[in-house]
Amino acid sequence: MRRVRVALYGVGAVGSLIAKFLLEKQGLEVVGAIDVAKDKAGADLGMVLGLKGKVGISVSDNVHATLSGINADIAIHATSSYLKDTYPQIASIVEHGVNVVSTCEELSYPYLIEPKLAQRLDTLAKKHDVTVLGTGINPGFLMDTLVITLTGLCQKIERIKAVRVMNAATRRVPFQKKIGAGLTVEEFREKMEKKEITGHVGLEQSVAMIADALAWKLDNIIVESVKPVVAKKPVESKDIKINAGKVAGLRQSAKGILKNRELIILDFQAYMGAEEEYDAIAIEGVPNIRQRIQPCVHGDLGTVAMVFNSIPKVINAPAGLFTMKDLPVPSAALGDLRKRISA
Ligand SMILES: NC(=O)c1ccc[n+]([C@@H]2O[C@H](COP(=O)([O-])OP(=O)(O)OC[C@H]3O[C@@H](n4cnc5c(N)ncnc54)[C@H](OP(=O)(O)O)[C@@H]3O)[C@@H](O)[C@H]2O)c1
Repeated sequence: MRRVRVALYGVGAVGSLIAKFLLEKQGLEVVGAIDVAKDKAGADLGMVLGLKGKVGISVSDNVHATLSGINADIAIHATSSYLKDTYPQIASIVEHGVNVVSTCEELSYPYLIEPKLAQRLDTLAKKHDVTVLGTGINPGFLMDTLVITLTGLCQKIERIKAVRVMNAATRRVPFQKKIGAGLTVEEFREKMEKKEITGHVGLEQSVAMIADALAWKLDNIIVESVKPVVAKKPVESKDIKINAGKVAGLRQSAKGILKNRELIILDFQAYMGAEEEYDAIAIEGVPNIRQRIQPCVHGDLGTVAMVFNSIPKVINAPAGLFTMKDLPVPSAALGDLRKRISA
């Protein structure tokens, strides 16, 4: 069997990490790369990734020219969080007959906010006989797929709570900036209002995916406003020092409500100086389930893995738009990727 041919669409922070991982894997070849950023388009992929040598693939801002000539099996898409922005990009991949795994957060459960675009994408994917999946570590796994998997142990469920706490001091600077680290509370609020920082995107999609898997028809999903977490004492990372009183990061939550009861609660916290880092899931039911991963799974490592490990599942799936709850149980695609591809 020939090697799996992978195209990259978006080689920013996350796309680059995925690309470097792909270049080391057996049974696949990276056959094209697309990005519109001025410092990337036209450059060799190796240079964009900060590798020592060239890879021999020129990053292009022309989707059609790239995808027409490379006979890709799948594209890894990592450009933006909102489906209204990514829909045309993903549609253009699909129209070239190429499967898609995307990190677009809203695509992880697109039926909540963009049901019409989801319907269009499903129809388009079926027309071109390809599969589309939105995934990542979160949304995509820790606060939805893993929760859903654990509910498989339950006879009854009263309430579900998932909490993710990350110490942002151990993360890269763009992530620290994204969560407002170093700002005053006033600056944080202004930037949130202007949407210069957004906080974590995808919590309500995770709530909706869990509810869908359990056939809970929620009355409402409440997305609480993103709150700054203020440093109580000075905290520093390799690159940033935060004084007491400045914003160290953020906390946000989303709740699935049915008949005035909070059935699903997702609580996301990312701030510098968090003393404990963990991913915890508590299901109140029969039986009660308590699951805790400590320290929390590293966001970048987990994202790269989830995206890569989804490649064979997506290639093997029937045509259409899928979410993580629709595909086989996630698992690591170790060894030669070709072993995972059904004939
Ligand atoms: N689900 C998850 O768990 C998960 C995990 C990690 C990341 N994500 C999401 O994945 C997305 C990518 O993350 P990132 O950190 O890599 O972002 P990033 O650093 O901003 O990289 C995105 C790259 O895509 C390029 N781009 C933007 N629009 C494009 C277009 N229309 N065509 C081609 N290239 C385009 C950008 O160019 P410009 O810089 O010129 O715009 C940039 O080079 C984000 O939305 C992020 O939130 C999700």
